[in-house]
Amino acid sequence: MKVKSLKWLRILHIMSAAIWFGGTICILAVALMCFSSSSEAAFLITAPLIPELYRRVILPAALFIILQGLIYGFFTNWGFIKHKWVTAKWIFTILLIPCIGAGAIGQMFSLIEKVKQSGYSSQVYEGNLFLVFIILQVLIMLLMISISALKPWKKKLPGEKI
Ligand code: HEM
Repeated sequence: MKVKSLKWLRILHIMSAAIWFGGTICILAVALMCFSSSSEAAFLITAPLIPELYRRVILPAALFIILQGLIYGFFTNWGFIKHKWVTAKWIFTILLIPCIGAGAIGQMFSLIEKVKQSGYSSQVYEGNLFLVFIILQVLIMLLMISISALKPWKKKLPGEKI
C-alpha cells in the first residue's frame, strides 16, 4: 500500500477507535444514569438506550475497525502475526465481542425483563454483571490504545531510528 493511502487508513483507524471508545464511555454514563433511576418509568426510558447505542454506534464502528484490521493484515507490512502488539490487538478485539454481546447487552436485556415482570426496586441490580462487563471493555480498550501508541516488542526495520 502507498504511503499516502497508509496515512489515510491511519486517520480513519484513529477516528473509528475514538468513536468506539467514546461510545463505550457514553454507554457507561447512560448506565450510571439508568442505575440511579428513581422509578420504573425512568428506568424503562434510559435502559433500552443502551442496546440501541450498541446497535447504532458501537457495532458499525467495531465492524469498520475489524475491516481496517484485515486491510492492515493483508495489504500492509504490519501483517497479522509479524508484530506481537498487532496480534495482541486481534486477541483483545475478539475478546471484546463476548464482553459486548453476552456481557453488556445480554445483562441489560435480562434487567429490562426482570423489571417488566417483577417491577422496579433498588435491589433490581443485585448480582447483575453489566457494570463489570462495561468497565472491562473500557480497560481493554485503554490497553489497546496504549499498545497502539507504544508499539511494544516492535521489531526495528533497517535504518529506522524510533
Ligand atoms: C483488528 C484489530 C486491530 C488491528 C489489527 C489494528 C492495527 C493497527 C495498526 C497496524 C496500527 C498502526 C498504524 C500506523 O502506525 O500506521 C494501529 C494504530 C492504532 N490503533 Fe489499531 N488496530 C486494531 C484495533 C484497534 C482498536 C479496537 C483500537 C481502540 C479502540 C485501536 C486504536 C488504535 C490507535 C489509537 C492507533 C494509533 C496509534 C498511533 O498512531 O500512534 N486499534 N492499529
